[in-house]
Amino acid sequence: MRKYIIAGNWKMNGTKESVRTLLEGIKKGAVEINHPNVEWIVFPPYVFLDATEKTLGDSGVAWGAQNLSREKSGAFTGEISASMLQEFHCRYVLVGHSERRTLYGENDDLVAAKFMVACQAGLIPVLCVGETLAEREKGLTQAVVMRQLNAVIRLAGGVELFNQAVVAYEPVWAIGTGLNATPEQAQEVHAAIRKEFSQHDAVLADKLQILYGGSLKSDSAQAILAMPDIDGGLIGGASLKAEEFLNIGKSCNR
Ligand code: PGA
Repeated sequence: MRKYIIAGNWKMNGTKESVRTLLEGIKKGAVEINHPNVEWIVFPPYVFLDATEKTLGDSGVAWGAQNLSREKSGAFTGEISASMLQEFHCRYVLVGHSERRTLYGENDDLVAAKFMVACQAGLIPVLCVGETLAEREKGLTQAVVMRQLNAVIRLAGGVELFNQAVVAYEPVWAIGTGLNATPEQAQEVHAAIRKEFSQHDAVLADKLQILYGGSLKSDSAQAILAMPDIDGGLIGGASLKAEEFLNIGKSCNR
């Protein structure tokens, strides 16, 4: 049985003080909930990774970064490398979040390159894919998602590396809008993603964790997380309050 992942993408939010409170709250709550089938992850801004490592330690709550550079080191002002993330014992890294794609011009090729760099460093990439509203309205949802996935599969020379990766389906129109996909809309895309992988490797497809993201909140989580191909959530706004984030994890019922 696939485990759930409940992951908080904090985006560009927080202060030293608020981050400490949030980390303490999540750590305490996750231990109390002690859900045998949930892996908790937080994705704080880079500058808080040190505090995150110190606070979470071996609590069982994992952490990762929201992005990484495709380069190893050198004259790349403002960039952060995979090896720097390793130093802070990040286990995961987001790759290809729609805000990186749309606001910072990350295209499929760059996202695929970052995925490879993450894998080579032993980080587990959480590859984000998803369509815009215009693409959905034109009936292009699956075509867009498969294009984004296949750019990575092509560069990786197959799906093997996805044994150490996670996929997050995040319809762009649902991110930060309060408008989440219905459980059926999400399930349809998740099933299509799993089917795509099964054409390469049925065993991998069955164990691949595919998360849903986009305005996930505690009141909408239960129905979405009950869908057979949805293995957790990548949560933005609702991950900034420990109680709300933890309540989403509590609704995992497999
Ligand atoms: P949201 O963000 O939950 O605030 O919609 C999700 C995400 O961008 O990962």
